[in-house]
Amino acid sequence: MNIATGNQVLTVLGMMSGTSLDGVDAAILRTDGEGVAEPGARLFQPYDRQEREVLRAALAAAPLAAADIPPPAFAAAAAVVDAAHLRAIEALLDQARLARREIDLVGFHGQTVFHAPERRITIQLGDGEALARAAGIDVVWDFRSADIAAGGQGAPLVPAYHRALAVAAGLEPPLALVNIGGVANITWIGKDGELIAFDTGPGNALIDDLVAARAGMRMDEDGRLAAAGHVDDAALARLLAESFFEKRPPKSLDRNDFSIEPVAGLGLEDAAATLAAFTAEALARAARHLPRPPRRWIVCGGGARNPVILRQLAARVPAPATVETAGDHGWREEFVEAEAFAYLAARSLRGLPLTFPGTTGVEKPVLGGRLAMARPGEGARSASA
Ligand SMILES: Nc1ncnc2c1ncn2[C@@H]1O[C@H](COP(=O)(O)OP(=O)(O)O)[C@@H](O)[C@H]1O
Ligand SMILES: [Mg+2]
Repeated sequence: MNIATGNQVLTVLGMMSGTSLDGVDAAILRTDGEGVAEPGARLFQPYDRQEREVLRAALAAAPLAAADIPPPAFAAAAAVVDAAHLRAIEALLDQARLARREIDLVGFHGQTVFHAPERRITIQLGDGEALARAAGIDVVWDFRSADIAAGGQGAPLVPAYHRALAVAAGLEPPLALVNIGGVANITWIGKDGELIAFDTGPGNALIDDLVAARAGMRMDEDGRLAAAGHVDDAALARLLAESFFEKRPPKSLDRNDFSIEPVAGLGLEDAAATLAAFTAEALARAARHLPRPPRRWIVCGGGARNPVILRQLAARVPAPATVETAGDHGWREEFVEAEAFAYLAARSLRGLPLTFPGTTGVEKPVLGGRLAMARPGEGARSASA
């Protein structure tokens, strides 16, 4: 709807598998890599229990991977990632009654299993070449390594898309788009599209870990446990006693940079309430690193479905700012990241930068992503101006 005339609009299928290990989000977006024409069909392809175990094992083995030799758990996990993404593509095409030739491009983020930018390491499992051949569609993948190689954090990558959404919606700056996935990140959009973005702290991963360990549950659905508990101030203070929150951006996190140990002595409900407050307080503290306070905080990602996190955040952002969800703006809050990787794939194909000094700390805007062809040797079918 805000596409400049003359640019080729591509139909791109973006996929994201976040560190929550819940499954693959897949969404179709019509875009030229600058404006957003329209969102299309979308689908969530959950991992089954066994797949999730394999991925968890890779995550657990990942810190040992830093010594250049991938742990054996990676190969098994990569196979799960490739298979699940291929299934997601096929299921989405099926559901939307689209033929594969109607999709110009796939954006394939893969599964992050380790992220240590200070050591210039970020590992996403998944083989874009294999996926392109199997799906019969060109794939842009490996979104993060060019930024890491250029000295950036390699994360977050969604800000460029957050800005496109905000521009298309005509929202007045300054505003913050917050993604609460396994970890949480913020995109601050200032006047003239100025971007500042960084990881803020935990998202849902600690809450997921807590309820998995204590109750065999997948998540604290609708924040029910947290709503029945009380925030333990001493435990919250211990959780917040990390230099990360004071550190100036750029900064990014690994899923396992925080631990649930400080809530180990609390009952389940109080522990869930305290972790929800931790996520909210870490987000609110991000405002210290912003040039001007956002007027609105718009929440996307799975955390937007946890009303306790939303309430805790609303209680902490300085008035008159409001806390809203992406859904309040007609965006598909659980699919914003998948759409972002569709958008970034289109940008990659057009040679537009994915990351910026304000988002990952690179010195100048950096291109990213690698193109894998469905039929190697034929030339990209949608290479455009
Ligand atoms: N209805 C809900 N109530 C509470 N939490 C939810 C709900 N739906 C999703 N979540 C949380 O969101 C997480 C998934 O969020 P997502 O944005 O997909 O993260 P990631 O990108 O890391 O996969 C789940 O693991 C869960 O913790
Ligand atoms: Mg997810």
